[in-house]
Amino acid sequence: MIPRDTVDKIIEAARVEEVIGEFITLKKRGANLLGLCPFHGEKTPSFTVSPVKGIYKCFGCGKAGHSVNFVMEHLSLSYPEALKWLAGKYGIEVIEKEITPEEKERLDERESMLIVMQYAARYFVDNMNNTDEGRSIGLGYFIERGLRPDIIQKFQIGYSLEDRRAFTNDAIKAGYSPKYLAKTGMSILSNTYVEGNEIQQADVFDRYAGRVMFPITDEGGRVVAFGGRTLSSEKKVAKYINSPETDIYHKSKVLYGLSLAKKSIQQKNVCYLVEGYMDVIAMHQAGIENVVASSGTSLTIEQIKAIHRFTTNIVVLYDGDEAGQKASERAIPLLLEEGMNVKLLMFPDNHDPDSYSRLVTAEEFAVYLEKNAQDFLIYKARKLSAETKNDPIKKATVIKDLVSNIALIPDTIIRSVYVKECSNIMEMEEQILQTEVNKLRRKAGDKNKRAEELEAEAQHAVEALIGPEEKEKKDTIRFEERELLRLMMNYGNILIKVDGENEDKTIHSFEMTLDEFIIMELCRDEIDFEDPIHQLIMDEFMHELSNERLPLLNYFVQHQNPDISTFAISNAQINYTLSDKWGRFGVFVIDEMNEVKRSAEHFLFSLKDKKLNTFILGLKEGLKNQEHDDIIKTQEKIMNLELNKKRINKLLGRIIIK
Ligand code: GTP
Ligand code: MN
Repeated sequence: MIPRDTVDKIIEAARVEEVIGEFITLKKRGANLLGLCPFHGEKTPSFTVSPVKGIYKCFGCGKAGHSVNFVMEHLSLSYPEALKWLAGKYGIEVIEKEITPEEKERLDERESMLIVMQYAARYFVDNMNNTDEGRSIGLGYFIERGLRPDIIQKFQIGYSLEDRRAFTNDAIKAGYSPKYLAKTGMSILSNTYVEGNEIQQADVFDRYAGRVMFPITDEGGRVVAFGGRTLSSEKKVAKYINSPETDIYHKSKVLYGLSLAKKSIQQKNVCYLVEGYMDVIAMHQAGIENVVASSGTSLTIEQIKAIHRFTTNIVVLYDGDEAGQKASERAIPLLLEEGMNVKLLMFPDNHDPDSYSRLVTAEEFAVYLEKNAQDFLIYKARKLSAETKNDPIKKATVIKDLVSNIALIPDTIIRSVYVKECSNIMEMEEQILQTEVNKLRRKAGDKNKRAEELEAEAQHAVEALIGPEEKEKKDTIRFEERELLRLMMNYGNILIKVDGENEDKTIHSFEMTLDEFIIMELCRDEIDFEDPIHQLIMDEFMHELSNERLPLLNYFVQHQNPDISTFAISNAQINYTLSDKWGRFGVFVIDEMNEVKRSAEHFLFSLKDKKLNTFILGLKEGLKNQEHDDIIKTQEKIMNLELNKKRINKLLGRIIIK
């Protein structure tokens, strides 16, 4: 358990724009910040962060929450895990009880797996620095490769001993259960294994032996997997052994180096994409931090989206060898389709980033990166043009290839710029190229259209399902209750003018806060809310107000009671800020601020009206079983109430027939 005051401290420190800004590039848009939503794929930003309200909301997919929610959702953490992660970020000390082996067992699975990985990372680092074998073989290898100690430390590089049971046995001795050692892929469960020429009996042994170990972390910097490189030059041995896919390691989503790169990617507004672990590490040693590798798999859409959250600019630094060429051929169309600006960078004499960085000084390396990145499509057009100079037939075929790349670009304007540039380079008419691109787009468009239709159908089905229920909600009092609370949370502190009657029937106007106004109106007619959560929030308002505090949205968003916090988040008012381009066409968002008093009055009277209706209905129902005298009394009562109703309805601006 994390003590309550520590929780408060963490929540206070964790500014929503700061926390989210660590994972997404946010641009200022009025009072809010705008970025690409990490929860659903989008190419134009609709993910809005409100620093004032301490919340985020995506206008595309509807996801909303505060900073702790964001960390939970984005890093797949539980509430306490997210708090601990934030505490780490802000240097807030969390004093918890030491975990005993029994408690370890009880922690949920993912957390147990992460703890195993953390232990393993430390264990391998310890091996490399503090055992003879580790120092001479592991550390020796890196020193020979010219890696600096601070970089070895930065990447938590370690060494797994040749003894196939070293890690597993030590881990079990330290209290980690074989179940999680196996689940993380760090140990292999088996009854028999071969050592030399003998079959040995064993239950569990290490996956990695005699390898240098590269921890692979998630975006939050937690170790979720390892890449282990052999140091033997024997061809039969796999060069790398990676962790298998596990509950905490989804290969297609993780980028090697991202947790260390994201700040720099945001600052430089460009990301370098390399092939291997050693390339990432070598670039850091040369002072370049905005670099990631796809590690193990070929680049996936999910990995591209992870990069796109920080920047639209990517420079691909794949090797010039065949494998590297193939890899970039696969990766680049995906990057173009995602709307990334793709540049290509090659090193002379078949060097890769790692080997080239060792050949030149850090300054020369940085200059090389700066000077030699070429726009991918332009590079390709030039290359194809040179190759087909005197061969018109061949030229016709390569153009198709180029066109297929250009057609992937989602933005019309950028696409037409490339059509123009490339037609110049290829020495052909722009119109021909444009027509070809359009043809391909139309073909692909048919596919997209079908997808859009399907999506619309699904949307209709959903609406048909939830429609009646939503409508019903409007007919119940809960709707007005919710709207009143929403106004109080968002605008409760603004002063409104209210007319009061003096004893001599003259009118004078005075000011009060919107909160006070609504509470006063409700108290006057002794109205309690029907929905228990609504009433709970109203009680909270009254309690705070009686202590001279005006609780606003932040207060409720961060509330300990998750029902209250959920209510606050889903009713937070963030006005969607339109991009400037819409402003020019006179499109604007109605500012609710100017309308708050009228809104409050509307919902108050509507609430009272509905209450009266229900009351009158009840009385009428009662008439059926009453004796003569009682009937007259009840009818009088009803008449009075009907009069009241007319008064209320008039105030609501409704026309009363009858
Ligand atoms: P060095 O040879 O030490 O420079 O390592 P490197 O990381 O640069 O490796 P290399 O250029 O040979 O390969 C690039 C990347 O491909 C590696 O970082 C790995 O992610 C991956 N890779 C290479 N060989 C293997 C292998 O045998 N198995 C797996 N799973 N991945 C590999
Ligand atoms: Mn290499």
